Amino acid sequence: MSLLEVKDLSKRFGGVVAVDSCSLSVPAGSITGLIGPNGSGKTTIFNLVTGFIAPDGGEVHFKTRSIAGLGPDRIYALGIGRTFQLARIFPRLTALENMLVPVRRAGLRALLSQGQWGHEKERAMEMLAFMDISQVAGTLGGALSYGQRKLLELAAVMMAGPELVLLDEPAGGVNPALLERIAERIRQLNQQGTTFLLVEHNMGFVMNLCHEVVVVHQGRAIAKGNPREVRENPAVLDAYLGT
Ligand SMILES: Nc1ncnc2c1ncn2[C@@H]1O[C@H](COP(=O)(O)OP(=O)(O)OP(=O)(O)O)[C@@H](O)[C@H]1O
Ligand SMILES: [Mg+2]
Repeated sequence: MSLLEVKDLSKRFGGVVAVDSCSLSVPAGSITGLIGPNGSGKTTIFNLVTGFIAPDGGEVHFKTRSIAGLGPDRIYALGIGRTFQLARIFPRLTALENMLVPVRRAGLRALLSQGQWGHEKERAMEMLAFMDISQVAGTLGGALSYGQRKLLELAAVMMAGPELVLLDEPAGGVNPALLERIAERIRQLNQQGTTFLLVEHNMGFVMNLCHEVVVVHQGRAIAKGNPREVRENPAVLDAYLGT
């Protein structure tokens, strides 16, 4: 069963066709990779699925529900979380406070009594510990290292308990030791039930972690399969070499 189904999705920016009748699906329970050369439309697909921009055409289904055209807060509340290519951390809030922001943004604040708020804080501390960054809970976002920001963003997106999480380059620019930790945490969260769709240029990371890989080129999904199938697909090599 697919948790997310994208059909004939399209988006143009002026004369640029960023996403061109793109179709793909994310199986429930999977870690699915979305790869493709620079500018092939990966981030735009994420922005369309999560409601940050509206599609020109096409359909997006999350479980049985059509979500194309809904706003980001609605989609977040339905159970789709995301991270950004450049981690969005509030520099003047502490790491712990950054963890609580997404919860508030979803409009849950009004629902939270004092007691439940305390519970959220406890959950945030647990999630920071899970990512091995408890020691920076009280550190301002602006003072965190690049790798700590990546871990914090991953921790924060899990706070609302999303069923599906879209990760835009979770390993981008991080050192090899941290790379392995990020992969392991994603794997653990997946084993606990979260489905992932992730964009990443680091092929080793994608091929080790993902069950399924979708390849986009010029806004279209041109290949899909398990990592081995995708690696051996000549169309994929052509897309990357630009032939
Ligand atoms: N807001 C925008 N306005 C105009 N053009 C845009 C906008 N967002 C994306 N584009 C264009 O759409 C195309 C797809 O961009 P997108 O960011 O989705 O690619 P990507 O696959 O995420 O690339 P990368 O791997 O470099 O992150 C590019 O040609 C890009 O310049
Ligand atoms: Mg991108």
